[in-house]
Amino acid sequence: MPNSNQIVFFDTTLRDGEQSPGCTMHNGEKLRMAHQLAALGVDVLEAGFAIASLGDLESIRAIAKEVRGPRIASLARCKRDDIEAAARAVEPAPVNRIHVFLASSDLHLEAKLKLTRAQALDQAAECVALACTYSDNVEFSAEDATRSDPAFLTEIVKVAIQAGATTINLPDTVGYTTPDEYKQLFQRMQLEIPGAEDIIFSTHCHNDLGMAVANSLAGVEGGARQIECTINGIGERAGNAALEEIAAALATRRDKFPYRNNIVMPQLYPTSRLLAELISFGCSPNKAVVGANAFAHESGIHQHGVLANPLTYEIMTPESVGVPANNMVLGKHSGRRLLEQRLAELGHPLSRQQLDEVYSRFTALADRKKSIYDQDLIGLLKPEDAIMTV
Ligand code: KIV
Ligand code: ZN
Repeated sequence: MPNSNQIVFFDTTLRDGEQSPGCTMHNGEKLRMAHQLAALGVDVLEAGFAIASLGDLESIRAIAKEVRGPRIASLARCKRDDIEAAARAVEPAPVNRIHVFLASSDLHLEAKLKLTRAQALDQAAECVALACTYSDNVEFSAEDATRSDPAFLTEIVKVAIQAGATTINLPDTVGYTTPDEYKQLFQRMQLEIPGAEDIIFSTHCHNDLGMAVANSLAGVEGGARQIECTINGIGERAGNAALEEIAAALATRRDKFPYRNNIVMPQLYPTSRLLAELISFGCSPNKAVVGANAFAHESGIHQHGVLANPLTYEIMTPESVGVPANNMVLGKHSGRRLLEQRLAELGHPLSRQQLDEVYSRFTALADRKKSIYDQDLIGLLKPEDAIMTV
């Protein structure tokens, strides 16, 4: 029975993330990342797409042999060969999952798969049943669910459940949906599907319109209890919903999301850093939660507030997500208080008059220079300031 208070974190960094441009990792790197994802506390770790290549299959198998904690999953299309490859890949894991998917939108069925709706129903039933002969835990994803006819979506989901799927994923494959629409989709499915209370419904959102995280959280409000996401939001095109943003939102807004989960919050930043190192592809400085500027303050008003009480401009502490400390950046918007503090830390406590003079040289420099380093600050001191203070 799914626990209605518990959110299952399904990480697909090594599958949906890894298959996107610039994000490929070799097997040793994937194994290292998988150990870190286990330390982060993800519940399900989608380690790859076993049929994609022998390398992928071997890498999933190595993760299934070594990594303990998460349920290890492999993706499979609705095809016998895919399901058998997935089964072989995840077989060494004590808890595993086969994740079967088939498109449910007419656009995908007609243009890509050349299948009628009736054929799709048959394939879904057959393939989920086959997957169930290899694993006691099968997830079915109705690809492009958010652009599917809701009546047909209900049909295919019912068929997958009858065949043995216990997790049903309704992906927003092309990042098209909106929060209210996605929430309603989950509500509708739960109303229309007999026995829905025994099924875990899952979100899987892409970020084409920048709404992947908002949509995932709306899905939870609609009754979804599994969230599929990736570290740093890597993934096809504009990426997948970012795990760290979802975890931080759930933790920071417990008033709105009264659910439990197993994420070890201080592991968020180390996990983000490791991924960036492995794929040589960091996130933008203003990226929420883990970006270089997420806890950096440059304007004097903000710096003054944060020095007095970090809650003035920070809704979570950097330490709570594993970021070493908040970062006061000296620039043209900074006030004299921070300058005074930084110079004191560097061994140069200044008198009020000295500070006034150094501050005026500092603002002139900051007008010309984007980043001000400690050496620049020391260069602003007159020899007598430096001598007086040693
Ligand atoms: O975006 C998507 O629809 C997917 C499925 C394969 C789950 O990644
Ligand atoms: Zn996807």
